[in-house]
Amino acid sequence: MENLFSSKHELISREDKEKLLNQKGVCLWLTGLSGSGKTTIAKTISKKLHKKGIITQVLDGDNIRIGINNNLSFSEEDRLENIRRTSEIGKLFVESGIVTICCLVSPTKKMREKAKSIIGASDFYEIYIATNLHECKKRDTKGLYEKAIRGEIKNFTGISAPYEKPNSPNLVVPTENISIEESSEILYNFAIPLITKN
Ligand code: ADX
Repeated sequence: MENLFSSKHELISREDKEKLLNQKGVCLWLTGLSGSGKTTIAKTISKKLHKKGIITQVLDGDNIRIGINNNLSFSEEDRLENIRRTSEIGKLFVESGIVTICCLVSPTKKMREKAKSIIGASDFYEIYIATNLHECKKRDTKGLYEKAIRGEIKNFTGISAPYEKPNSPNLVVPTENISIEESSEILYNFAIPLITKN
């Protein structure tokens, strides 16, 4: 029988895929409090990159938890599993040469270290969406802070569960007193050289 793993049938390499797409696969890992603006910034930069001919994939905690991670709670253990699975998925995209933007609260250093170890240090960029708790509570876009303060949601990050700020993120993106466009531009300018380097 013919051996499907012989050199004639070799898998197409990451390098070949990146050449075809004319871009590098990287993971932009956006961490920050709920309501800090991770998803909004991810959507904005993803559109900007698309216009420039760059393929992206956004992996968002809120969405991923509806599908593949719909059996996970917000306990520390389940959050770690949420991050593990999302990282494994992210890695598949990165290795196909796709710019992968992960938006997860990923509240602890341990969780972000886990993501980095799965995706690979050389492809992983930790981006801190630096909106402080006071501002997130004020925005309360999903009404969750109010519920968490009333005790209706348990283990809510920033209220009844911890958020550890990154010590040395690759990039800090401010969102206060600047527009979404400006915040996204900061991330865009950071990402472009990584994606287009030879
Ligand atoms: S993570 O901690 O496991 O990384 P993830 O990013 O997937 O979290 O999901 C966070 C989103 O879930 C928040 O933006 C919010 O909309 C919602 N959410 C619901 N319950 C909680 C909670 N207890 N803590 C934080 N976010 C919650």
